[in-house]
Amino acid sequence: MAKTRTTFFCQNCGTQYAKWLGQCSSCNEWNTIVEELIQKEEKRQWKQTKDTRKVSKALQISDIIVNSEDRITTRNKELDRVLGGGLVKGSVLLLGGEPGIGKSTLLLQVALGVSKKVLYVSGEESQSQIKMRAERLSNQNNNCLILTETKTQNIFKSIEESSPNIVVIDSIQTLHTDTIDASPGSISQIRETTAELIKFAKETSTPVILIGHITKDGHIAGPKILEHMVDVVLQFEGDRNYTYRILRAQKNRFGSTAELGIYEMQSIGLREVENPSEILISQKDESLSGTAISATLEGVRLLMIEVQALVSTAVYGTPQRSTTGYNIKRLNMLLAVLEKRAGFRLGTKDVFLNITGGIKVEDPAIDLAVISAILSSNDDEAISEKYCFAAEVGLTGEIRPVNRVEQRILEAEKLGFTKIFISKFNKIDINKYKIKIVNVSKVEEVYNNLFA
Ligand code: TYD
Ligand code: MG
Repeated sequence: MAKTRTTFFCQNCGTQYAKWLGQCSSCNEWNTIVEELIQKEEKRQWKQTKDTRKVSKALQISDIIVNSEDRITTRNKELDRVLGGGLVKGSVLLLGGEPGIGKSTLLLQVALGVSKKVLYVSGEESQSQIKMRAERLSNQNNNCLILTETKTQNIFKSIEESSPNIVVIDSIQTLHTDTIDASPGSISQIRETTAELIKFAKETSTPVILIGHITKDGHIAGPKILEHMVDVVLQFEGDRNYTYRILRAQKNRFGSTAELGIYEMQSIGLREVENPSEILISQKDESLSGTAISATLEGVRLLMIEVQALVSTAVYGTPQRSTTGYNIKRLNMLLAVLEKRAGFRLGTKDVFLNITGGIKVEDPAIDLAVISAILSSNDDEAISEKYCFAAEVGLTGEIRPVNRVEQRILEAEKLGFTKIFISKFNKIDINKYKIKIVNVSKVEEVYNNLFA
């Protein structure tokens, strides 16, 4: 008879307790501690036949050999870019994202596109459901095996039979292992099944990709320790009302986290977007007032983003300010700067601001485009669509320099823009570029340059 044991886990952060508490002392959340059954008996985990008693030896760093073909290309350029050049053998990757954002679609597409043997394990959909989805996607790989299973012991059995080169698990929250008794999705099951899969990945050098659900505040459901255990954590995000999706690395032991992958959800699956400006800048026939284009950076990737502003006389007593994709506090600050430092009367106006494509921008270099769009709408005078902006605006109304300005200028030049507005303090050799560079140091200068 197996000896049963229970412990208490915080469902939010995964801290383990010997007894029940109302509040987790580690993350301060209330009512998150639950009792979970743990059966500690004969551990039936992934076992390899070779002798595991081998003790590893310390090596001098110069003696360690690294082969460059330790990476498997996924044949998905955007994913490879985020991973830093492909899947590393023996690595464990966790892909998180909101329900319905396209995690299963992305990984099924990768499984069908890659030239290796892939085992796609789904605990969420039936084989025929997956087949139906696969039929909509353009890539076809006959080397892709589909398994619907949730017990890790059975998954390992199937792995031994088919020996795949890549394993995909959809999703880690549906898995359970025989060695403990808690229900699937509980902290202890997630931790235990992940540990088994990591052990398998490291011992066989097979990359394992896990799909993880996220909680309502955007964190991957399960213990925080999950993110420490895996090698790579990717986040798939986007606004459901728009078609494009962004793949970001939150953690990457084999590459930079500054890279970004961009996709567009279509009826035939996710399309890789190599030139994001094509979806982020709206197409129109004539120049309209209230729009300005900013050369912003997301990590190391340059995005040309269109800012749209609408300034109109307030009909209610208190003027309204509303934004999509931009921090409203920052908008209020810029409006105050325009009012106080440059004398524009915007205090009685409604101001609406929209970043097209629903993208959320953190880069302060978008400030100058925001003010230009507001001034353009206020004066009802259009800014040429061949102009773009890249500078931060300070509280005193000064135009401040931004990082990597050369990269922004070069990209703008490449995309056919004729003028770029940057800060005077960026100290750029204007004659080096074909594009006309306008150096500005104050908000009024921008205004005079554009509309006077
Ligand atoms: P899915 O991959 O199931 O999301 P997740 O696994 O992250 O929960 O994505 C489902 C959504 O994607 C669904 O709402 C429909 C859409 N979709 C398309 O628009 N085109 C397609 O070709 C596919 C397969 C899905
Ligand atoms: Mg799914």
